[in-house]
Amino acid sequence: MTDTTSSQIDHLFNEDRRFAPSDAFAADAVATKELYAEAEADREAFWAEQARALHWHKPFTEVLDWSTPPFAKWFDDGELNVAYNCLDRHVEAGNGDRVALLWEGEPGDERKVTYAELTDEVKRLANVLGDLGIGHGDRVAIYMPMIPEAIAAMLAVARIGAIHSVVFGGFSADSLRSRIDDAGAKLVITADGGYRKGKVSPLKPAVDMALADRNGSGVQETVEHVLVVQRGKNAVEWTEGRDVWWHDVVPQASGEHEAQPFPAENPLFILYTSGTTGKPKGILHTSGGYLTQAAFTHKVVHDIHPETDVFWCTADIGWVTGHSYVTYGPLANGTTQVLYEGTPDTPHPGRWWELVEKYGVTILYTAPTAIRSFMKLGRAIPKKFDLSSLRLLGSVGEPINPEAWMWYRKIIGGKTTPIVDTWWQTETGAMMISALPGVTETKPGSAQVPLPGIAIDVVDEDGTHVGNGNGGLLVITKPWPSMLRGIWGDPERFVETYWEKFQKQGYYFAGDGARLDDDGDVWFLGRVDDVMNVSGHRLSTTEIESALVANEAVAEAAVVGASDETTGQAVAAFVIIKQSYLAANSPDGLAQTLRLWVGEQIGPIARPRDVYIVEELPKTRSGKIMRRLLRDVAEGREVGDTTTLADTAVMSVISAQVR
Ligand code: PRX
Repeated sequence: MTDTTSSQIDHLFNEDRRFAPSDAFAADAVATKELYAEAEADREAFWAEQARALHWHKPFTEVLDWSTPPFAKWFDDGELNVAYNCLDRHVEAGNGDRVALLWEGEPGDERKVTYAELTDEVKRLANVLGDLGIGHGDRVAIYMPMIPEAIAAMLAVARIGAIHSVVFGGFSADSLRSRIDDAGAKLVITADGGYRKGKVSPLKPAVDMALADRNGSGVQETVEHVLVVQRGKNAVEWTEGRDVWWHDVVPQASGEHEAQPFPAENPLFILYTSGTTGKPKGILHTSGGYLTQAAFTHKVVHDIHPETDVFWCTADIGWVTGHSYVTYGPLANGTTQVLYEGTPDTPHPGRWWELVEKYGVTILYTAPTAIRSFMKLGRAIPKKFDLSSLRLLGSVGEPINPEAWMWYRKIIGGKTTPIVDTWWQTETGAMMISALPGVTETKPGSAQVPLPGIAIDVVDEDGTHVGNGNGGLLVITKPWPSMLRGIWGDPERFVETYWEKFQKQGYYFAGDGARLDDDGDVWFLGRVDDVMNVSGHRLSTTEIESALVANEAVAEAAVVGASDETTGQAVAAFVIIKQSYLAANSPDGLAQTLRLWVGEQIGPIARPRDVYIVEELPKTRSGKIMRRLLRDVAEGREVGDTTTLADTAVMSVISAQVR
């Protein structure tokens, strides 16, 4: 059923190490066990109380409207301004001098940005957006490196009630173009380039390519302007009238900008994520409920003491983790955080640990794939740095194996820090399942329990609770404040993807396999659909297959996620080459060409680890590709049951070709 092999599962369930919170940590913890009881007693009152920790221009009187499921409304008659909550209110409370961002560029340049400075920048930018014709409800694409301006851009868009669509800077021009078109963005905010792996990686040229002449493409150009931050100082082309330098307009703009209230259900952002089809889904999040849950979970799960903590979430703002735990959660809570532009191993493999020491990071939130890469490099590297400031570690993006969990605690956490393994998704907007530090006794490898106010279950195909000791499908049984409100422009796909499977029960289907242990704690087993998880990033097999067949050499392609020691899963592609291509060209080097091709089409993260050129693909009689068998081959296992194949001999041919 899932990508995790049975031996791995057995291994997981033999895990019996337990770590109780220390008295010292528990004494000062933000989370308390009473939170569970409060939420249990009255879920909606509990969320209303968390929402009231925000500033409402107009207080809400309704909590949840679930009269037309699955379309939820939270705090519907309330009005707030998301950016005001993340900025102005801290300044007004006298905390303007507190550092919001401890930014470090990859080459080692630094900037400290206080709450007062960030508020000022966002106000100016909000005025500039108005001058560029952006208003309430307009869509703005953000394609930027990890620099303070990227955070300012998100907040300025939010401040004026417009909608941002952040596109990861590692995505290709094509991926950017399809996201701009789907959302109908009027403005793109970008930079000339940003530093990655020791050199400037250009961004503006990709925007230019994405917006290149559309004559004959049938797509109407919606983008009116491109606002460009100068960061990499790389040469860029300029389209007069369309392109605007940030430094020519933002510093000169007025710093006066009063944040207007917007309804709680005002759309805040669209974030594209891979599903099981070729076309990424634009996940839509709104304002009041999203900010409530992002801020609450950040505070209790990361145990935030804003006066003393230095928080560091290593995610890029191009992913949901960067939205909720770099921009919105931490800033809503008035947190001081590290923002790092570059890659973990530039200019040396101890770069992250150097930053922890330099800034005195107290809470680190990262992905298992990063932890496993560091494990591979060995403990000598982190041991060179003083990591004693760390007091809490978090994990997100994929199941963390017990070995990586133990290494993280021992080598990075000095054998003392609690670890919170947080399960959630782009669609859930914020954390859903996690231990609470200072409260929960943790188990290496398990995400454990739903957060207070969250209702989940593990069920069988019919939606029946599987009971402790059994595996099944993870569902969310009650609406939650930061839930997605839809798929941009496609309400049917929203209903079909998440709600149809358990329509009778009204459950949200997450697409993850999970098992309940004897205590009822949740252990995640990976996706149950054709979504891969590579380095904690979601990729669709279909999307990569479409990219492969778009190459002139390829007749057919099948892609699977094969387990990988470092990245969790890796992309393995099986391709059939066109006879006509082979008649005129040599197949030498073709596998490598196709790897690079996928990187160009989608982005380097989608580049297959392996491309196998084969003559046939395993298909059922109805023509469905049996990925399970290809996965066996890619993982070097004996091939499983082939009896449902149209041609049962095909797997021995493929296995022979791959070897
Ligand atoms: O399969 C689950 C896995 O990542 C998926 C969500 O991916 P995405 O929307 O890109 O968001 C990633 C960051 C929140 C889930 O369906 N996943 C995420 N966190 C965990 C996880 N699997 C197991 N344990 C986790 N802690």
